[in-house]
Amino acid sequence: WVVMKTARAPSNIAVIKYWGKRDEKLILPINSSISVTLDPEHLSATTTVAASPAFEKDRLWLNGKEVSVEGVRYKNCLREMRARATDVVIESSGKVIRKEDWNSLHIHIASENNFPTAAGLASSAAGFACLVYALAQLMGVQEKYEGELTAIARLGSGSACRSLYGGFVEWKMGQEIDGTDSIAVQLAEESHWKDLVIIIAVVSSRQKETSSTSGMQESVKTSPLLKYRAEMEKAIKSMNFTEFAKITCADSNQFHATCLDTSPPIFYLNDTSRKLIGLVERWNRHAGEPQVAYTFDAGPNAVMFAKNKEVAAQLLQRLLYQFPPSADTDISRYVHGDQSI
Ligand code: DP6
Repeated sequence: WVVMKTARAPSNIAVIKYWGKRDEKLILPINSSISVTLDPEHLSATTTVAASPAFEKDRLWLNGKEVSVEGVRYKNCLREMRARATDVVIESSGKVIRKEDWNSLHIHIASENNFPTAAGLASSAAGFACLVYALAQLMGVQEKYEGELTAIARLGSGSACRSLYGGFVEWKMGQEIDGTDSIAVQLAEESHWKDLVIIIAVVSSRQKETSSTSGMQESVKTSPLLKYRAEMEKAIKSMNFTEFAKITCADSNQFHATCLDTSPPIFYLNDTSRKLIGLVERWNRHAGEPQVAYTFDAGPNAVMFAKNKEVAAQLLQRLLYQFPPSADTDISRYVHGDQSI
């Protein structure tokens, strides 16, 4: 027999970024971060997990290619999920998989992204959130405290803990050394800020040269700039776009300044990214107050927030005019929020 579950989880984009760990093994951050979870239609991972007595070992396929499941991150997630597994009844046959059986049952995992992997669009975030959620369904895992699953997703990739919720999400850095309080909580629901439209400009779908994991290690060691993080929660709760835009752009710029301030420097932005920043800055200056905000993760692709649908429509037009699609550049491939623009 085989039991199988499939789940889908979206990416999230940080507006207050996580960059640096206080514990590398447990993936505990040096600061709390805040993100917005995207629509799953555009940027998500779909993962199928299966268990069968016929499987001889745990195996993993990413976008159709088998890769090692021996990495510590996968192992940690699988171990924590097995430890929480419960008795599961297979509906079709009535057979019961006992709690203790999960320790010896091997798992096959197949995961696919609907967007470029490792181009700085949080593919590991969607991937590990999806894996943990799918395993919870397969193994009948119930959370003992709210956010328990987010703490397990965090063991796969820090930013993954924020993808288990929709809307605006905060990853609380926590204080405990075992990481039990380093969990994600929802700050505002998906439906909270209806006017806000998010546009993602894919500037390059190439793999990034410096992974987030190694990039942030170097930054923590070498960047004196990594200390200040503004308070974003208030701006989100009150839907204050002016404040939201100021903090989002400043946080992104400080994050990339931190990367440049790392020795040797890490460059995630490219010429197109910088042109996009210039365009938004001029747009906002001209308007007198922020209409658009931008943020860039560990890659050159821009995530832009438009104040409302009208601004989003103007911005899209402008982007397509100024950056016609090319082999690498596909401006505004994804729009999150109002689809009618
Ligand atoms: C720039 O979560 O990918 O996207 O925990 O080592 O897997 P690991 O790193 P990862 O880092 C994300 C960094 C970021 C900012 C953010 O999403 O907060």
